[in-house]
Amino acid sequence: MSLQAPASASLTRYEHLYIDGQWVAPLDGQLIESIEPATGKPWAIAPLGGTADIDRAVAAARQALSGPWGRMPGHERAALLRRLADGLLAAVAELARIESRDNGNLLKDHRASLTAQAQWYQWFASLADKTHGTTIPLEEGMHGFTTRVPVGVVGAIIPWNAPLLSICLKVGPALAAGCTVVIKPAEQTPVSALEFARLVHAAGFPPGVVNVVPGVGRVAGAHLVQHADVDKISFTGEGATAKRMLREGSDNLKHFSFELGGKAPHIIFADADLDSALNAATTCAWRLTGQSCALGSRVLVERSIYERAVEVFQQRAASVRVGLPSLESSHMGPQISEEQLRKTLSYVDIGRQEGAELIAGGRRILRPELADGYFVEPTVFAGVDNRMRIAREEIFGPVAALIPFDDEEQALAIANDSAYGLTAGLWTRDVGRAHRVSSRIAAGMVWVNTYSYLRWSTPYGGFKASGWGRENGIDALDPYLQTRTTVLSSSGQFANPYAD
Ligand code: NAI
Ligand code: MG
Repeated sequence: MSLQAPASASLTRYEHLYIDGQWVAPLDGQLIESIEPATGKPWAIAPLGGTADIDRAVAAARQALSGPWGRMPGHERAALLRRLADGLLAAVAELARIESRDNGNLLKDHRASLTAQAQWYQWFASLADKTHGTTIPLEEGMHGFTTRVPVGVVGAIIPWNAPLLSICLKVGPALAAGCTVVIKPAEQTPVSALEFARLVHAAGFPPGVVNVVPGVGRVAGAHLVQHADVDKISFTGEGATAKRMLREGSDNLKHFSFELGGKAPHIIFADADLDSALNAATTCAWRLTGQSCALGSRVLVERSIYERAVEVFQQRAASVRVGLPSLESSHMGPQISEEQLRKTLSYVDIGRQEGAELIAGGRRILRPELADGYFVEPTVFAGVDNRMRIAREEIFGPVAALIPFDDEEQALAIANDSAYGLTAGLWTRDVGRAHRVSSRIAAGMVWVNTYSYLRWSTPYGGFKASGWGRENGIDALDPYLQTRTTVLSSSGQFANPYAD
């Protein structure tokens, strides 16, 4: 993956890391090729930071806390964030092209996401001068109050499935809170974080407030996690990686927040608006090629309408236009990598061996124009039992598992019988049932008669193995702030207890 002398001149070249407001070459001089998932071929050269680069970036982030940034009032941080939002909005078309080439998701999806991200930054800006503390009533002459101060230097470790969105959800609130940040994008998608650094620079953030160091997870990422001068790690990715981070990063008792996987139940009762429910279920099984933690990969269907759901899923799978992510006509793009494609195909084998019925898809797409990329068919298993691995493990591919149920209690039992608890969907026309079931689902986000609805104002995060902490919402800054309680005596008298 890494090379000393970059090959083809036709590749887009990114040679510098962004540290302390400057573009600098990685200290060990390494560069990597970034593969375009749609073609399986390199499209860009990116710098590969090592441990010494992480050290430089952390030092710059620490230094920035004692510079102008550390003294800047919230409304000025807000103004910088609004400039960042404007810069992002002006760059949507270009950033969408870059991000789409780097991670393979559809160009039109990236455009929509980036446009929303500009509003996300506006939201975080609006919170930057509202980090109010409280006053605490104490006895006469004693005055108590709290102030909320930034946690400090934050390491943001970013996955490949939605790099700029993940940066937005972490770096936006971190900056609004007054923290400084070292961003480590995923090795599969190193490029867009560097483009983000350009926007940060243009917006006028002081040097060292945001630093970007692409690098290998087990090297640059692990070093950031273990760094004694990093106060917090904010991570989105695999649960196994989070557990390793907790073990390796425990020395200075830094803070952690985690946004991990999901195996979301999408429950459809027979009394639902069936067309809408199945539109949502077939959308959310395959959206983003299944590479999102939020998607409804376990479709729980009441037995009396189960056959109908099986039919619709089968027909719909055949109508999905899998194609190049740059084409407006495409419904679904490739998987991020050969590794991820193999993972999905291996679960197709596992599902078959477990006795589930493959009713659509399941194969790599070998049409000439797609054969070099990592394209797979939208895939559906029927007759799935929740104990099967295809119902328990996160596949991160376009694979739906259709599970029948008989009544409300059984639906809930199946929905909650999962290590994960990130999102859940529920379709019913019965208001009582909507309340009963949604209040008993062990998930951080429950959608009733809709699915995948997410805004800057809706807190998002997981129960159980799906994570720690929440992103978004009015509380988005909490993980990046700590409370200082001050108690002040107006008399200043303090008696001598040894005088008697
Ligand atoms: P990963 O958790 O290994 O990678 C995510 C990020 O963590 C990358 O930036 C990577 O460089 C970094 N990283 C990896 N090991 C690290 C370490 N020891 N210390 C510090 N940083 C480290 O996820 P991966 O391997 O890319 O994907 C594997 C599976 O994880 C996927 O198939 C999917 O099931 C799940 N996943 C879930 C995501 C989510 O949104 N919840 C996002 C990405 C992956
Ligand atoms: Mg990994």
